[in-house]
Amino acid sequence: MKRKKRILLSLLALLLLLILPGFYNALTVQRYTVEAPGLAQPVRIALITDLHSCAYGEGQRELLDAVDAEAPDLILLGGDIFDDDMPDDNTETFLRGVVGRYPVYYVTGNHEYWSGEAGFTRKMTILEQCGVTRLSGEAATVEVGGTRISLCGVDDPHAWENSNGFTEQTEGGFWKQLAQVAAQAEDGVFTILLTHRPDLLEYYSRYDFDLVLAGHAHGGLWRIPGVMNGLFAPNQGWFPKYAGGWYELNGTVMIVSRGLARESTWLPRWYNRPELVIVELQSSGTQWTSIMREKKQQ
Ligand SMILES: [Fe+2]
Repeated sequence: MKRKKRILLSLLALLLLLILPGFYNALTVQRYTVEAPGLAQPVRIALITDLHSCAYGEGQRELLDAVDAEAPDLILLGGDIFDDDMPDDNTETFLRGVVGRYPVYYVTGNHEYWSGEAGFTRKMTILEQCGVTRLSGEAATVEVGGTRISLCGVDDPHAWENSNGFTEQTEGGFWKQLAQVAAQAEDGVFTILLTHRPDLLEYYSRYDFDLVLAGHAHGGLWRIPGVMNGLFAPNQGWFPKYAGGWYELNGTVMIVSRGLARESTWLPRWYNRPELVIVELQSSGTQWTSIMREKKQQ
């Protein structure tokens, strides 16, 4: 009996040892390198998604220091930077800490729309006052040193969604924006699509974007690294395909951030630390246009 009890207690202790460390949720930096042949110089991008107005230390110092340590050339905000429940203060503090020091671009996420008309307007006003550039179906040419990049941004589909949900048949709206930014992108330069939703990669890959940057999935909330890359994600359901990481479809590369949401979620993250994503675009010295286009046609 004593032996049985000892085994049971040992098993329980082992289980706790496996479960508890999973809840460690300190900020981490996730790095990716993307081959971008033909770039005059490397370009470092900080991708920040799904902050949901969460707190990262006094005055957002933890997140600001992490960004500064990486010295990015530009910061891209991939939606749900604000939340519909949490006050906007933490996000505003973070924005005020980076604007003027880095070029900052933003696209909307679903939670900005879920904030209602007044809430949405307030959030957009904060962005405008801070000097953040919102890309709402627009493409901008960004210059980093001598390197030009075409940066395309689309709104979250919730900008048009109605009670019938978002379907491929939805007229105008999102699909129009997608086609519009693809057409606006400057020819002959590396092209990035900044979007909140990762689950629409199939549609993104129909255009000539070289790199898609997305968020929204929160890493699938619970993970078992190496075994299960995410348990559940909005718009993807159980065992999501695009929960976080590197994906490729028809020659289009997509990087999905696991985001920075922490105290805003009703279930804690598990083996899924909130992340600041750093994407390094590196030249391999060859002309990228022909390579990428050929790859896409395969
Ligand atoms: Fe989202």
